[in-house]
Amino acid sequence: MSDVMHSVQFANQKLANRFALAPMTRTSAEADGTPNQAMADHYEAYAKGGFGLVITEGTYTDNGASQGYGNQPGIINDAHVAGWKTIVERVHAAGSSIFVQLMHAGSQFQANHYTDQPIAPSAVKPKGSPLGIYGDQTEWKTPKSMTLEDIQFAIAGFVQASQNAQAAGFDGIELHGANGYLLNQFLSTYFNQREDSYGGSLENRLRIMVETIKAIRAVVGKDFTLGIRLSQVAVTDPDYQLPEGEAGFRQIVEAVRDAGADFVHTTDGDVRRAAFIEGDKSLADVAAEVQGVALIINGDIDETNHPDFAADYPQALLAIGKKALANPDFVQRLKDGKEIMDMDFAMLQPKATIANEQAWRRKQSA
Ligand SMILES: Cc1cc2nc3c(=O)[nH]c(=O)nc-3n(C[C@H](O)[C@H](O)[C@H](O)COP(=O)(O)O)c2cc1C
Repeated sequence: MSDVMHSVQFANQKLANRFALAPMTRTSAEADGTPNQAMADHYEAYAKGGFGLVITEGTYTDNGASQGYGNQPGIINDAHVAGWKTIVERVHAAGSSIFVQLMHAGSQFQANHYTDQPIAPSAVKPKGSPLGIYGDQTEWKTPKSMTLEDIQFAIAGFVQASQNAQAAGFDGIELHGANGYLLNQFLSTYFNQREDSYGGSLENRLRIMVETIKAIRAVVGKDFTLGIRLSQVAVTDPDYQLPEGEAGFRQIVEAVRDAGADFVHTTDGDVRRAAFIEGDKSLADVAAEVQGVALIINGDIDETNHPDFAADYPQALLAIGKKALANPDFVQRLKDGKEIMDMDFAMLQPKATIANEQAWRRKQSA
């Protein structure tokens, strides 16, 4: 236990322990994207519950098509920054660091305060259906294939959002490059069918990620913690694999490091899942082999298996999703030897909001 509970240096952060709250969308901001009191209470609970690092839910970055869900928080104007500032201060007061996850929805677009038109690398709809827990939409819209101007606008949004994150007092930024959202769509040969310099070879498909990281690094300075979450799978396609396999994923991790990322955050159904079209390595295995970049691992880490992950990935932070949702005080419970509850998906019904989670908790204690 001591190996996960001691304080660690992670990129430029001194953290109380190796547990991170995984980013989880709660669709509980005001309709205009302003973070509110309920969100402040929510994030503070994880800090008080012992997580060394809190990573926020995916937060939109521009007043174009970046927002993907109704009541998703943004970080694009003064009201958003003020809302986040309160949250950051409360998390800090409870002793944790906090990173904001910056997200552009791309074609996984269900609701947006500013436009009805999704944009994406190509005019390709996601597979399957929109996610019921994030809204009432039943069909995907066909996205517009992004022009070069659209790409520049999206990058500029990430850059401005990063400056706003600094103004709000965040300790770092995690770009959402996973789970089928915009930056991940560019990597994917399903979503990205472009024939220009942003499509085709992996080097081209990586271009927007690299340009975004470089552009952010240029404005936030060398000491501000910046990283990116990476997966192969999308929430709308749990089986997607890069045609370039393990070597391709290594190329991605090296490219984001060379562009200026301090850390990568791998996410998969299970940290150890053999992820690639060949061999038996996981995303985390390959990322851990790359020198010069810090690592967060995620995927089914719990109260019993975490010591093994901590030992096998000795430099990594362990990000916890569903178990944290069920137990905001997961880390404190581990310290105290208390029972850890399983997550009940009823907590996210009919929508994945904080209010529905609270209603669920009231029902349990009634
Ligand atoms: C309700 C919910 C919302 C999520 N929202 C996000 C998100 O905004 N950004 C993200 O990168 N992952 C999101 N995820 C994925 C989690 O961060 C995590 O990767 C996933 O739950 C697997 O980790 P776990 O096995 O510890 O739960 C979400 C997961 C859940 C359950």
